[in-house]
Amino acid sequence: MKIQILVLCLLASSAFSASHHPILIVVSYDAFRYNFFDTKLVPNMERLKFNGTYSDYLVNVFPTKTFPNHHSIATGLYPEVHGVIGNTYVDQKSLKVVKMGFEMYNYSNDVIPIWRWNEDQGDGRHSATMMWPGADFPYQGKNITYRQSFNASVDWFSRVDTLISWLTNSEKPANLVMFYIEEPDTHGHAFGPNSNTVHELLQKLDNVTAYLEKKLEEHKLTEKANVIHLSDHGMISVTPPYFINITQYIKNGTYEWAGATPCIQITPNAGYEDNIYNSLKEASVTNGHFKVYKKEDYLKRWHYKKNPRSPPILIMADEGYALDDLIVAAPKYAKFYNFTLTNTSEFGVHGYDNDVVDMHPFFMARGPRIKLHHRVTPFSTVDLYNLFTEILRLPARANNGSMGNIVDILVDGGGRYGVGVGVVVGGVLLALIIVGLAAGLTLYIIKVRQNIRTAAALNKRFPQTFQNSGIEAQHLLESEDVQA
Ligand SMILES: *[C@@H]1O[C@H](CO)[C@@H](O)[C@H](O)[C@H]1NC(C)=O
Ligand SMILES: *[C@@H]1O[C@H](CO)[C@@H](O)[C@H](O)[C@H]1NC(C)=O
Ligand SMILES: *[C@@H]1O[C@H](CO)[C@@H](O)[C@H](O)[C@H]1NC(C)=O
Ligand SMILES: *[C@@H]1O[C@H](CO)[C@@H](O)[C@H](O)[C@H]1NC(C)=O
Ligand SMILES: *[C@@H]1O[C@H](CO)[C@@H](O)[C@H](O)[C@H]1NC(C)=O
Ligand SMILES: *[C@@H]1O[C@H](CO)[C@@H](O)[C@H](O)[C@H]1NC(C)=O
Ligand SMILES: *[C@@H]1O[C@H](CO)[C@@H](O)[C@H](O)[C@H]1NC(C)=O
Ligand SMILES: *[C@@H]1O[C@H](CO)[C@@H](O)[C@H](O)[C@H]1NC(C)=O
Ligand SMILES: *[C@@H]1O[C@H](CO)[C@@H](O)[C@H](O)[C@H]1NC(C)=O
Ligand SMILES: *[C@@H]1O[C@H](CO)[C@@H](O)[C@H](O)[C@H]1NC(C)=O
Ligand SMILES: [Zn+2]
Repeated sequence: MKIQILVLCLLASSAFSASHHPILIVVSYDAFRYNFFDTKLVPNMERLKFNGTYSDYLVNVFPTKTFPNHHSIATGLYPEVHGVIGNTYVDQKSLKVVKMGFEMYNYSNDVIPIWRWNEDQGDGRHSATMMWPGADFPYQGKNITYRQSFNASVDWFSRVDTLISWLTNSEKPANLVMFYIEEPDTHGHAFGPNSNTVHELLQKLDNVTAYLEKKLEEHKLTEKANVIHLSDHGMISVTPPYFINITQYIKNGTYEWAGATPCIQITPNAGYEDNIYNSLKEASVTNGHFKVYKKEDYLKRWHYKKNPRSPPILIMADEGYALDDLIVAAPKYAKFYNFTLTNTSEFGVHGYDNDVVDMHPFFMARGPRIKLHHRVTPFSTVDLYNLFTEILRLPARANNGSMGNIVDILVDGGGRYGVGVGVVVGGVLLALIIVGLAAGLTLYIIKVRQNIRTAAALNKRFPQTFQNSGIEAQHLLESEDVQA
């Protein structure tokens, strides 16, 4: 019997080389909003979604920008912990604007992305990153086995071919691939998320998803590979009448700034701190469509304050509004893409508060470790790291995610720990139920007191989860309370 299995294994491995470790492929479609499925333009993705496990959306990290979110996906850490606090930021010592590059990601030796961590466990584990933001640099001074830097000219289908070649390399088969696609973000910015351009791109993305599945099948990897499809954030459309000129309120040469609409980081020059803040605060009142925060006032639930790179002042446009950089960029988009700029031209914007529903990305997964036909409660982007380490059967480093939020995705829960973990999970569940009952009571009291503010906010942020059970409500209530 054992020998038969051995022979079968040998046959299989000689015919199709693949890692003997669990295989995980993570595909990120930049700015694919949680409800783009409603367009009905992505039938292949939809089939996968309902055949595997999905959540209605993910709660991403603040700010809802690409680089902070991709690094939170890869590390399970909040931006204040991993240091990528924006797509750009002002270095608070040199006052220079830092853009995508080694310096941005060379923040702390304690920040170890999943691809580095996977390979560090040895025993023939190999990681691969296909254009993943932040993966072009060495961590702990080491490169991983396979890495393709961002290059928009490489078409998506050949990116799939390349990652398949990594998975099937006979000497060093990858067991983890992080695969990034820059759409619908890139064109979404220029045409808005409701445009025909974006709709065509959704169809093309759907084709790429189908192509990946087909290639996995061809290489007999369908039943072996766990594939997670997700995004970093959503997007909304904003038109020129809703662009706010912020710089008119503050004197040129008295500050540095970084970031991009709708979320601009301001670092006043020495001596101008109060002047800048007061001018902006006054303007935010008269204008009424953007908010200004001092670092000390950053909301706790943003997890954005406790970092030396966090700016002294943050400007956040209200949902549906944009700031100066789009005033400048709009005519450039029009010129580059050859369209006439009018007051009804739509531009795509993301970066708002992560409690804005349309900023939410999607999540779906399938594979041998993933439940079939299953829907889970929406969870946080920082929880994904625990899911990755569970699937890869690696120990998890300290992180900001919660294992409890992702166990329901896995066919065997936290199975790799065996009975021990069963007991722990059981204990945790019992604790959650008790806490949940307490939450139910708390919520009841809140309602009775007519203090519906918190409940209404919760309902808005997590519509379906709030009604589901006392357990979820407590989980959310906790974070909401801490925020206030
Ligand atoms: C659903 O997933 C199962 C298990 O991976 C697979 O056998 C089946 O072909 C899938 N069905 C569809 C419609 O994709
Ligand atoms: C940044 O990179 C340099 C060179 O690799 C390294 O010596 C230093 O420790 C890194 N700094 C941080 C904060 O990670
Ligand atoms: C990592 O790869 C880059 C690009 O291929 C190379 O320049 C660099 O020297 C490598 N670093 C290490 C530590 O191997
Ligand atoms: C990007 O990809 C294109 C198409 O494969 C190639 O011609 C070009 O040299 C690549 N650019 C870089 C910087 O590697
Ligand atoms: C997607 O694939 C279908 C079927 O192969 C094809 O007809 C269609 O043109 C493709 N769409 C895009 C946008 O690439
Ligand atoms: C565009 O909108 C601005 C601001 O609302 C308005 O002042 C201007 O008249 C509009 N232009 C046209 C051509 O409608
Ligand atoms: C904002 O307003 C100021 C003062 O009116 C002007 O100098 C500046 O060019 C405007 N900025 C943009 C991006 O239009
Ligand atoms: C602002 O000041 C900088 C130099 O401090 C200058 O290069 C830039 O042109 C000025 N911008 C405006 C809009 O006056
Ligand atoms: C730009 O658009 C106009 C009108 O739609 C068209 O006539 C022209 O050929 C286009 N130019 C380019 C470079 O695509
Ligand atoms: C996030 O995780 C890091 C690393 O374990 C920890 O230092 C930090 O305190 C955590 N932050 C929160 C808000 O839990
Ligand atoms: Zn993005």
